[in-house]
Amino acid sequence: MQEVTVGVVGLGNVGSGTLSILAENADQIALKLGFRLKVCTVCSRSVHDKQIPESLGPVARTSDWRDVTGDPRVQIVAELVGGASVAADIIHAAIHNRKSVVTANKELMASCGSEIWNRAIQAGINLAMEASVCGGIPIHAVLREGISGDRITALYGILNGTSNYILTEMEKRGDQLEDVLAEAQKLGYAEADPSADIDGFDARSKLAILAALAFGEKITPSDIFVEGIRRLSPTDFRYAHQLKHTIRLICAARQTHEGLILSVRPALIPESTILASVQGAYNAVWVKGQYGDDTFYYGRGAGSRPTGVAVVSDLMRVAREIRSGSPERVSPFAHPRLGEYRPVSVAVQTRAYYLRFRVHDRPGILASLAGILASKNISLEAVLQEPCETKQDLPFVITVEPTSEQSVREAVEEMARLDFLREAPLALPMETAL
Ligand SMILES: NC(=O)c1ccc[n+]([C@@H]2O[C@H](COP(=O)([O-])OP(=O)(O)OC[C@H]3O[C@@H](n4cnc5c(N)ncnc54)[C@H](OP(=O)(O)O)[C@@H]3O)[C@@H](O)[C@H]2O)c1
Repeated sequence: MQEVTVGVVGLGNVGSGTLSILAENADQIALKLGFRLKVCTVCSRSVHDKQIPESLGPVARTSDWRDVTGDPRVQIVAELVGGASVAADIIHAAIHNRKSVVTANKELMASCGSEIWNRAIQAGINLAMEASVCGGIPIHAVLREGISGDRITALYGILNGTSNYILTEMEKRGDQLEDVLAEAQKLGYAEADPSADIDGFDARSKLAILAALAFGEKITPSDIFVEGIRRLSPTDFRYAHQLKHTIRLICAARQTHEGLILSVRPALIPESTILASVQGAYNAVWVKGQYGDDTFYYGRGAGSRPTGVAVVSDLMRVAREIRSGSPERVSPFAHPRLGEYRPVSVAVQTRAYYLRFRVHDRPGILASLAGILASKNISLEAVLQEPCETKQDLPFVITVEPTSEQSVREAVEEMARLDFLREAPLALPMETAL
C-alpha cells in the first residue's frame, strides 16, 4: 500500500527521539496502520552533523525549513523546533502549502493554537499536538476522545517535571532550592535560565492547553494566576509533614459557580493523595468528571523517546485521516470552536491556608498576627513552631480554617508591614479535597 510521507523540522531531543522510533518501530507502525510512514526530508540548523537512522532509507537533509514545508512529496510536517517565532513561520508555511502539521510546541499552541486550528480547518488539513503537554502521557487523547462523553468539573496536574524534581529532592534531602537547582542544571534536568520551570510559566502554558480541551474555552496564559516555587524552603516541607501534607506545584482548573478558576501555584496536598506520590521528573493529571468520577494519568512528562512516542502516535493518527480521505477533522482542542474565557480571580476561592513566617523573635508577635487575622474574620486553626537556636530568624507556621483567598491576601499584605518580619509571610493553599 502507498506510504504517507513526513518531513521533520527540528532534530534535537524530540526530533531525534521521533526519528529513532520511526526507524526502530517501523514494522509495528506499518502493521497498525496498514501502510508505512516514510520520512522523506529532515531539517535542522546543523543537519549535516546529525545521525539519521540508516533504516529510514534515503532521506533528504536540509538546513532551510522551507525545503520541508515546500517539498511537494511531504504530506505531514512535524514541527519540533520550539519557541514562538520560527516555529510559527514553519507551521503557517506548512498550512499554506496544505500539509498537515504535528507539533510538540506548548508555547505556540497555548498562545495562538486556536487561530492556527482555524487556519488548518480552512486549508482542509489536520493539526495534532499531543506532545505539547506531558510528553509521554496521552492526555490530549484522553480529553479529546477517551472521556469526551463526560462533563469535566476539575483537572489537577503536576505538569512541570523540573520543578517536581526540585521539590521532591528538597523534600527527600532537606536541601535548599538553589542547591538542588544547581545540581539539576549540572545533570541537564534544568535549563541554564530556569525561570520558565521554577516560576511556573511552562506549567501555565500547559494548563492553558489542557483547560481548553477540558472546558472548551480559549484561555490566554497570562489570565492564569501563576506563582512559582522560589520561596519554598526545606522548612516548609518539615512543617507540611507535621500537618500530614506535602508541597507540589499544582496546576488547577476548576469549574465553580463563579466560573472556571485557573491557577499554577505551590500548594499543600495531603500525603495520602495519589498526587503526593508523583516523584522526580514525572508528570500526572487527575481529572474529575461529573459522570465518570475520578481518572488519573501518570508518566514521563518529557524526554526524547517518551515525547517521541507522542509525536509518532500523532503522525499515525493524522496519516490515517489523510488515508481515509475524510474532510472531517477532529479538533486538537476537543471542540470544533472554543468559547471566549472570562477570567475568574482565584481570590474568590475558599481554602484552608498555611501561613509561614520568619521573624526576629520578641514577645507579642503571635498576638499581633492573630489580631490581624481576627480583623479579617479569619479563624486560626493551629500554630506550629520547631525548636530554633537563633531568635534572629525564627520560622513558624499558622494554619487557618477555610476562608476566602481575598481575606488571606489582605491579611498577608497588612502583616508584611510588621517590623518583626524578616520577609513577607508565605501563604499556600491547603488542597485538602484532593
Ligand atoms: N525536550 C522534551 O522533552 C520536550 C517534551 C515535550 C515537548 N517538547 C517540545 O518539543 C519542541 C522541541 O524541543 P527539544 O527539546 O527537542 O528542543 P531542542 O533539543 O532544542 O531541539 C530543537 C531543534 O530545532 C532545530 N532548530 C532550531 N532553530 C531552527 C531553525 N531556524 N531552522 C531549523 N531547525 C532549527 C535545532 O537545530 P540544531 O540542533 O541544528 O541547532 C534543534 O535540532 C519544543 O517545542 C519543546 O517545548 C520538548
